[in-house]
Amino acid sequence: MKFFLDTANLKEIQEAHDLGVLDGVTTNPSLMAKEGITGKQTILEHYKAICAIVEGDVSAEVVSTDSAGMLREAEELINIDPKIVVKIPMIKEGIKTIKALSDRGIKTNCTLVFSAGQALLAAKAGATYVSPFVGRLDDISMDGIQLIAQIITIYRNYGFKTQVLAASVRHPVHILKCAELGADVVTCPLNAITALLNHPLTDSGLAKFLADYNKGNQ
Ligand code: E4P
Repeated sequence: MKFFLDTANLKEIQEAHDLGVLDGVTTNPSLMAKEGITGKQTILEHYKAICAIVEGDVSAEVVSTDSAGMLREAEELINIDPKIVVKIPMIKEGIKTIKALSDRGIKTNCTLVFSAGQALLAAKAGATYVSPFVGRLDDISMDGIQLIAQIITIYRNYGFKTQVLAASVRHPVHILKCAELGADVVTCPLNAITALLNHPLTDSGLAKFLADYNKGNQ
């Protein structure tokens, strides 16, 4: 399973990269704004900075809602770096755009997916990734993990190549549930990944080992 970081924060991206577990990055306009990155030129420059750190795919989101506009934006985005994946919202114009880009071999990530029907359409259009939002479904008392399971079953039934990128993943249990189901990718904040490190028996076991070792060195 690939680990993508869901952030525009360069320090966190560098930290995940240095940890050795970073496979890619996803961003969205809200994550950019959170880092104070606003204005088209600044945003494009920021993608360049992200791509300089990351070795894998970097999702960059379009903000047009018509296919012609999305295609224009896609051209600008893919010129930044070959790692750029064009992130496109799950709307009718988005599906048209995904189909046009995938026919040209350009990587896409279909975002804002909240149902299996939407995921089926994204795969039919040839999306490289589909991004079902786990946490946001949980937020409204629906089962985000159940949606991941449903999409994986459907894709396996037909051999769709679209990768299931579990998005809006908020904590380590989300990551583990996605791993059990066989999701191709999870995208989440750094603290959800580093939380996987923690176990009280690791801490107490290490403390005891070090204390015992030091007995011979006093
Ligand atoms: C998807 O790629 C989105 O950027 C993201 O995962 C949304 O997460 P949130 O629901 O925590 O904002």
